[in-house]
Amino acid sequence: MSLKNASTPAPTPLVFPPLDPRQAAPLSPLQREILEIKRRKNAVILAHNYQTDDIQRVADFVGDSLGLARQAAGTTAETIVFCGVHFMAETAKIVNPGKRVILPEAGAGCSLSDSCPAEELAAYKAQNPGLYTVAYINCSAAVKALSDVICTSGNAVDIVNRVPPGREILFVPDQNLGQWVMRQTGRGMRLWPGSCYAHVLYTVRGIEGARAAHPGAPVVAHPECIEAVRDTADIVCSTEKMIGYCRDNPAGTFIIATETGMMSRLRREVPGKTFVAAPTDLCGCNDCRYMKMNTLGKLRECLETLEPQVTLPMDTLAAAAAPIHRMLEWSR
Ligand code: 13P
Ligand code: SF4
Repeated sequence: MSLKNASTPAPTPLVFPPLDPRQAAPLSPLQREILEIKRRKNAVILAHNYQTDDIQRVADFVGDSLGLARQAAGTTAETIVFCGVHFMAETAKIVNPGKRVILPEAGAGCSLSDSCPAEELAAYKAQNPGLYTVAYINCSAAVKALSDVICTSGNAVDIVNRVPPGREILFVPDQNLGQWVMRQTGRGMRLWPGSCYAHVLYTVRGIEGARAAHPGAPVVAHPECIEAVRDTADIVCSTEKMIGYCRDNPAGTFIIATETGMMSRLRREVPGKTFVAAPTDLCGCNDCRYMKMNTLGKLRECLETLEPQVTLPMDTLAAAAAPIHRMLEWSR
Protein backbone atom coordinates (compact mmCIF):
# COMPACT_ATOMS: atom_id res chain seq x y z
CA MET A 1 0.00 0.00 0.00
CA SER A 2 1.47 3.40 -0.87
CA LEU A 3 0.62 6.27 1.44
CA LYS A 4 0.23 9.77 0.01
CA ASN A 5 3.22 12.00 0.68
CA ALA A 6 3.23 14.72 3.31
CA SER A 7 2.49 17.53 0.81
CA THR A 8 -0.82 15.94 -0.25
CA PRO A 9 -3.65 17.44 1.81
CA ALA A 10 -5.07 15.00 4.40
CA PRO A 11 -8.59 13.78 3.56
CA THR A 12 -11.41 15.78 5.14
CA PRO A 13 -12.66 13.98 8.26
CA LEU A 14 -16.18 12.58 8.06
CA VAL A 15 -18.53 14.32 10.51
CA PHE A 16 -21.40 12.48 12.23
CA PRO A 17 -23.85 15.09 13.60
CA PRO A 18 -26.34 14.24 16.37
CA LEU A 19 -29.21 11.94 15.37
CA ASP A 20 -32.60 13.58 15.22
CA PRO A 21 -34.85 11.19 17.20
CA ARG A 22 -37.88 12.36 15.21
CA GLN A 23 -36.24 11.08 12.03
CA ALA A 24 -35.26 7.60 13.27
CA ALA A 25 -35.74 5.28 10.28
CA PRO A 26 -38.14 2.37 10.92
CA LEU A 27 -36.69 -1.15 10.58
CA SER A 28 -36.59 -2.38 6.98
CA PRO A 29 -38.49 -5.52 5.87
CA LEU A 30 -35.17 -7.44 5.89
CA GLN A 31 -34.39 -6.32 9.44
CA ARG A 32 -37.88 -7.33 10.58
CA GLU A 33 -37.49 -10.71 8.89
CA ILE A 34 -34.17 -11.24 10.71
CA LEU A 35 -35.83 -10.54 14.05
CA GLU A 36 -38.61 -12.99 13.21
CA ILE A 37 -36.19 -15.82 12.25
CA LYS A 38 -34.11 -15.07 15.33
CA ARG A 39 -37.21 -15.51 17.55
CA ARG A 40 -38.22 -18.73 15.76
CA LYS A 41 -34.75 -20.24 16.12
CA ASN A 42 -34.24 -19.16 19.75
CA ALA A 43 -31.08 -17.27 18.80
CA VAL A 44 -29.34 -14.24 20.27
CA ILE A 45 -27.52 -11.72 18.05
CA LEU A 46 -24.30 -10.30 19.50
CA ALA A 47 -22.65 -7.52 17.50
CA HIS A 48 -19.34 -5.72 17.90
CA ASN A 49 -19.27 -1.92 17.96
CA TYR A 50 -17.62 -1.98 14.51
CA GLN A 51 -20.61 -3.56 12.75
CA THR A 52 -22.67 -1.47 10.37
CA ASP A 53 -25.57 0.50 11.82
CA ASP A 54 -28.19 -1.74 10.16
CA ILE A 55 -26.70 -4.81 11.92
CA GLN A 56 -26.31 -3.01 15.25
CA ARG A 57 -30.00 -2.13 15.15
CA VAL A 58 -31.13 -5.79 15.07
CA ALA A 59 -28.64 -7.00 17.70
CA ASP A 60 -29.64 -7.99 21.23
CA PHE A 61 -26.33 -6.65 22.50
CA VAL A 62 -23.74 -4.34 20.93
CA GLY A 63 -20.42 -3.91 22.68
CA ASP A 64 -16.68 -4.37 22.94
CA SER A 65 -14.79 -7.66 23.12
CA LEU A 66 -15.09 -7.91 26.91
CA GLY A 67 -18.83 -7.20 27.02
CA LEU A 68 -19.44 -9.61 24.16
CA ALA A 69 -17.46 -12.40 25.85
CA ARG A 70 -19.52 -11.87 29.03
CA GLN A 71 -22.79 -11.90 27.08
CA ALA A 72 -21.79 -15.07 25.22
CA ALA A 73 -20.90 -16.79 28.50
CA GLY A 74 -24.23 -15.90 30.10
CA THR A 75 -26.76 -16.45 27.33
CA THR A 76 -29.48 -19.10 27.58
CA ALA A 77 -30.40 -18.92 23.87
CA GLU A 78 -29.84 -22.06 21.79
CA THR A 79 -27.79 -20.32 19.13
CA ILE A 80 -25.36 -17.40 19.33
CA VAL A 81 -25.12 -15.39 16.11
CA PHE A 82 -21.88 -13.50 16.32
CA CYS A 83 -21.61 -10.39 14.13
CA GLY A 84 -17.94 -9.49 14.42
CA VAL A 85 -14.80 -11.29 13.32
CA HIS A 86 -13.80 -14.94 13.55
CA PHE A 87 -11.76 -14.84 16.76
CA MET A 88 -14.72 -13.24 18.56
CA ALA A 89 -17.08 -16.02 17.45
CA GLU A 90 -14.47 -18.58 18.53
CA THR A 91 -14.32 -16.90 21.95
CA ALA A 92 -18.11 -17.22 22.25
CA LYS A 93 -17.83 -20.95 21.53
CA ILE A 94 -15.01 -21.37 24.07
CA VAL A 95 -16.92 -19.67 26.89
CA ASN A 96 -20.20 -21.44 26.09
CA PRO A 97 -19.27 -24.69 24.30
CA GLY A 98 -22.75 -26.20 24.62
CA LYS A 99 -24.23 -23.55 22.30
CA ARG A 100 -24.30 -23.47 18.54
CA VAL A 101 -22.23 -20.44 17.45
CA ILE A 102 -22.73 -19.16 13.93
CA LEU A 103 -21.40 -16.14 12.09
CA PRO A 104 -22.56 -14.39 8.92
CA GLU A 105 -19.15 -14.59 7.17
CA ALA A 106 -16.64 -17.33 8.03
CA GLY A 107 -13.91 -15.42 6.16
CA ALA A 108 -14.07 -12.39 8.48
CA GLY A 109 -10.56 -12.62 9.93
CA CYS A 110 -8.32 -10.07 11.66
CA SER A 111 -4.85 -8.85 10.66
CA LEU A 112 -3.83 -8.67 14.30
CA SER A 113 -4.84 -12.26 14.99
CA ASP A 114 -3.05 -13.35 11.79
CA SER A 115 0.16 -11.67 12.96
CA CYS A 116 0.64 -14.32 15.66
CA PRO A 117 0.40 -17.86 14.23
CA ALA A 118 0.15 -20.50 16.98
CA GLU A 119 3.13 -22.49 15.63
CA GLU A 120 5.37 -19.41 15.85
CA LEU A 121 4.24 -18.67 19.38
CA ALA A 122 4.79 -22.32 20.42
CA ALA A 123 8.33 -22.23 18.94
CA TYR A 124 9.13 -18.91 20.70
CA LYS A 125 7.88 -20.24 24.03
CA ALA A 126 9.94 -23.42 23.61
CA GLN A 127 13.07 -21.32 23.03
CA ASN A 128 12.23 -18.96 25.94
CA PRO A 129 10.83 -21.10 28.73
CA GLY A 130 9.27 -19.59 31.85
CA LEU A 131 7.53 -16.62 30.23
CA TYR A 132 4.02 -15.70 31.44
CA THR A 133 1.95 -15.22 28.28
CA VAL A 134 -0.73 -12.53 28.30
CA ALA A 135 -2.73 -12.71 25.06
CA TYR A 136 -4.93 -9.91 23.80
CA ILE A 137 -8.27 -11.49 22.90
CA ASN A 138 -7.62 -10.64 19.21
CA CYS A 139 -5.93 -13.99 18.55
CA SER A 140 -6.90 -17.48 17.44
CA ALA A 141 -8.21 -20.19 19.79
CA ALA A 142 -4.92 -22.05 19.25
CA VAL A 143 -2.96 -19.00 20.52
CA LYS A 144 -5.33 -18.64 23.49
CA ALA A 145 -4.68 -22.31 24.27
CA LEU A 146 -0.94 -21.50 24.58
CA SER A 147 -1.54 -18.50 26.89
CA ASP A 148 -1.74 -18.02 30.66
CA VAL A 149 -4.36 -15.28 30.66
CA ILE A 150 -6.37 -13.33 28.08
CA CYS A 151 -7.08 -9.60 28.16
CA THR A 152 -9.10 -7.12 26.14
CA SER A 153 -8.37 -3.46 25.55
CA GLY A 154 -10.92 -2.74 28.30
CA ASN A 155 -9.14 -4.70 31.04
CA ALA A 156 -5.52 -5.12 29.83
CA VAL A 157 -4.06 -2.81 32.51
CA ASP A 158 -5.92 -4.61 35.33
CA ILE A 159 -4.97 -8.03 34.00
CA VAL A 160 -1.26 -7.21 33.67
CA ASN A 161 -1.32 -5.74 37.18
CA ARG A 162 -2.58 -9.13 38.45
CA VAL A 163 0.25 -11.20 36.93
CA PRO A 164 2.49 -12.58 39.72
CA PRO A 165 5.31 -10.04 40.24
CA GLY A 166 8.20 -12.46 39.80
CA ARG A 167 7.15 -13.56 36.28
CA GLU A 168 8.49 -12.12 33.03
CA ILE A 169 5.58 -11.33 30.68
CA LEU A 170 5.29 -12.04 26.98
CA PHE A 171 2.44 -9.91 25.55
CA VAL A 172 0.89 -11.09 22.26
CA PRO A 173 -0.05 -10.15 19.56
CA ASP A 174 -0.49 -6.34 19.62
CA GLN A 175 2.70 -4.36 20.17
CA ASN A 176 0.78 -1.07 20.36
CA LEU A 177 -1.61 -2.14 23.08
CA GLY A 178 1.35 -3.81 24.81
CA GLN A 179 3.42 -0.58 24.73
CA TRP A 180 0.49 1.37 26.13
CA VAL A 181 -0.06 -1.16 28.93
CA MET A 182 3.67 -1.00 29.80
CA ARG A 183 3.35 2.77 30.17
CA GLN A 184 0.20 2.48 32.33
CA THR A 185 1.49 -0.27 34.61
CA GLY A 186 5.22 0.52 34.65
CA ARG A 187 5.80 -3.18 34.06
CA GLY A 188 8.29 -4.35 31.41
CA MET A 189 7.04 -6.96 28.92
CA ARG A 190 8.33 -8.69 25.81
CA LEU A 191 6.07 -7.56 22.95
CA TRP A 192 5.07 -9.72 19.98
CA PRO A 193 5.52 -7.57 16.83
CA GLY A 194 1.87 -7.69 15.67
CA SER A 195 -0.51 -4.85 14.86
CA CYS A 196 -3.95 -3.98 13.55
CA TYR A 197 -3.70 -2.88 9.92
CA ALA A 198 -6.59 -0.41 10.37
CA HIS A 199 -5.56 1.34 13.59
CA VAL A 200 -1.93 1.87 12.52
CA LEU A 201 -3.23 3.98 9.60
CA TYR A 202 -3.99 6.92 11.89
CA THR A 203 -1.34 9.63 11.82
CA VAL A 204 -0.55 12.66 13.96
CA ARG A 205 -0.97 14.75 10.78
CA GLY A 206 -4.54 13.46 10.32
CA ILE A 207 -5.40 14.06 13.97
CA GLU A 208 -3.94 17.57 13.90
CA GLY A 209 -5.95 18.33 10.73
CA ALA A 210 -9.14 17.21 12.47
CA ARG A 211 -8.23 19.31 15.54
CA ALA A 212 -7.72 22.37 13.34
CA ALA A 213 -11.15 21.86 11.74
CA HIS A 214 -12.83 21.21 15.12
CA PRO A 215 -11.00 23.31 17.72
CA GLY A 216 -11.44 22.19 21.30
CA ALA A 217 -12.77 18.73 20.39
CA PRO A 218 -11.14 16.07 22.61
CA VAL A 219 -9.35 13.27 20.73
CA VAL A 220 -10.37 9.76 21.75
CA ALA A 221 -8.06 6.98 20.51
CA HIS A 222 -8.04 3.19 20.69
CA PRO A 223 -4.85 1.68 22.20
CA GLU A 224 -4.19 -0.22 18.95
CA CYS A 225 -3.13 3.15 17.44
CA ILE A 226 0.60 3.88 17.18
CA GLU A 227 2.37 5.58 20.08
CA ALA A 228 2.63 9.04 18.44
CA VAL A 229 -1.15 9.07 17.89
CA ARG A 230 -1.85 7.80 21.40
CA ASP A 231 0.42 10.52 22.79
CA THR A 232 -1.56 13.24 21.04
CA ALA A 233 -4.95 11.92 22.26
CA ASP A 234 -6.87 13.27 25.25
CA ILE A 235 -7.86 9.75 26.22
CA VAL A 236 -6.83 6.26 25.10
CA CYS A 237 -9.43 3.57 25.82
CA SER A 238 -11.44 0.58 24.65
CA THR A 239 -14.48 1.12 22.47
CA GLU A 240 -16.83 0.61 25.44
CA LYS A 241 -15.07 3.21 27.58
CA MET A 242 -15.40 5.70 24.70
CA ILE A 243 -19.15 5.80 25.35
CA GLY A 244 -18.77 6.82 29.01
CA TYR A 245 -16.00 9.31 28.25
CA CYS A 246 -18.01 11.13 25.57
CA ARG A 247 -21.17 11.06 27.68
CA ASP A 248 -19.47 12.48 30.80
CA ASN A 249 -17.23 15.03 29.09
CA PRO A 250 -18.91 18.46 28.68
CA ALA A 251 -17.56 18.89 25.10
CA GLY A 252 -20.10 18.81 22.26
CA THR A 253 -17.75 17.42 19.57
CA PHE A 254 -15.23 14.56 19.75
CA ILE A 255 -12.58 13.27 17.33
CA ILE A 256 -12.68 9.47 17.34
CA ALA A 257 -9.65 7.42 16.26
CA THR A 258 -11.19 4.01 15.84
CA GLU A 259 -13.27 2.08 13.32
CA THR A 260 -16.24 3.91 11.76
CA GLY A 261 -18.92 1.54 13.15
CA MET A 262 -18.24 3.08 16.55
CA MET A 263 -19.90 6.30 15.40
CA SER A 264 -23.29 4.53 15.19
CA ARG A 265 -23.10 3.37 18.79
CA LEU A 266 -21.89 6.79 19.96
CA ARG A 267 -24.65 8.62 18.10
CA ARG A 268 -27.35 6.36 19.54
CA GLU A 269 -26.06 6.36 23.11
CA VAL A 270 -24.59 9.84 23.45
CA PRO A 271 -27.37 11.99 21.99
CA GLY A 272 -26.92 15.63 21.08
CA LYS A 273 -23.16 15.40 20.40
CA THR A 274 -21.12 15.40 17.20
CA PHE A 275 -18.51 12.76 16.36
CA VAL A 276 -15.72 13.38 13.89
CA ALA A 277 -13.97 10.33 12.43
CA ALA A 278 -10.21 10.79 12.67
CA PRO A 279 -8.98 10.59 9.06
CA THR A 280 -6.11 8.43 7.84
CA ASP A 281 -3.88 9.46 4.92
CA LEU A 282 -6.18 7.37 2.73
CA CYS A 283 -9.69 8.25 3.81
CA GLY A 284 -11.85 10.58 5.90
CA CYS A 285 -12.90 7.60 8.04
CA ASN A 286 -11.56 4.10 8.64
CA ASP A 287 -13.49 0.85 8.10
CA CYS A 288 -12.06 -2.53 9.14
CA ARG A 289 -12.33 -4.57 5.96
CA TYR A 290 -12.97 -7.76 7.98
CA MET A 291 -15.71 -6.35 10.20
CA LYS A 292 -17.44 -4.98 7.13
CA MET A 293 -17.60 -8.42 5.43
CA ASN A 294 -20.78 -9.02 7.45
CA THR A 295 -23.97 -7.78 5.84
CA LEU A 296 -27.66 -7.95 6.72
CA GLY A 297 -28.16 -10.39 3.82
CA LYS A 298 -25.50 -12.76 5.17
CA LEU A 299 -26.94 -12.41 8.67
CA ARG A 300 -30.37 -13.46 7.43
CA GLU A 301 -28.87 -16.39 5.50
CA CYS A 302 -26.84 -17.72 8.44
CA LEU A 303 -29.86 -17.50 10.76
CA GLU A 304 -31.96 -19.43 8.25
CA THR A 305 -29.38 -22.17 7.59
CA LEU A 306 -27.64 -22.07 11.01
CA GLU A 307 -24.35 -22.12 9.07
CA PRO A 308 -21.40 -21.48 9.05
CA GLN A 309 -20.81 -22.80 12.56
CA VAL A 310 -17.72 -22.40 14.71
CA THR A 311 -16.24 -25.79 15.56
CA LEU A 312 -13.07 -26.38 17.55
CA PRO A 313 -11.19 -29.53 18.59
CA MET A 314 -12.06 -30.55 22.18
CA ASP A 315 -8.48 -30.17 23.41
CA THR A 316 -8.20 -26.64 21.98
CA LEU A 317 -11.57 -25.71 23.50
CA ALA A 318 -10.50 -26.87 26.95
CA ALA A 319 -7.02 -25.34 26.80
CA ALA A 320 -8.32 -21.98 25.51
CA ALA A 321 -11.10 -21.84 28.14
CA ALA A 322 -8.73 -21.69 31.13
CA PRO A 323 -7.02 -18.35 30.31
CA ILE A 324 -10.36 -16.77 29.29
CA HIS A 325 -11.99 -17.83 32.56
CA ARG A 326 -8.95 -16.46 34.41
CA MET A 327 -9.53 -13.12 32.66
CA LEU A 328 -13.24 -13.10 33.55
CA GLU A 329 -12.35 -13.96 37.14
CA TRP A 330 -9.67 -11.23 37.33
CA SER A 331 -11.89 -8.52 35.81
CA ARG A 332 -15.12 -8.99 37.74
P1 13P B 1 -12.54 -3.40 21.66
O1 13P B 1 -12.50 -4.61 22.56
O2 13P B 1 -12.01 -2.17 22.30
O3 13P B 1 -13.89 -3.23 21.10
O4 13P B 1 -11.54 -3.68 20.43
C1 13P B 1 -11.72 -4.75 19.55
C2 13P B 1 -10.98 -4.58 18.28
O5 13P B 1 -10.96 -5.43 17.43
C3 13P B 1 -10.29 -3.34 18.08
O6 13P B 1 -9.73 -3.32 16.82
FE1 SF4 C 1 -8.68 -6.94 13.76
FE2 SF4 C 1 -8.03 -4.40 13.45
FE3 SF4 C 1 -10.27 -5.28 12.39
FE4 SF4 C 1 -10.05 -5.01 15.09
S1 SF4 C 1 -10.03 -3.38 13.54
S2 SF4 C 1 -10.90 -6.76 13.97
S3 SF4 C 1 -7.88 -5.57 15.34
S4 SF4 C 1 -8.19 -5.92 11.81
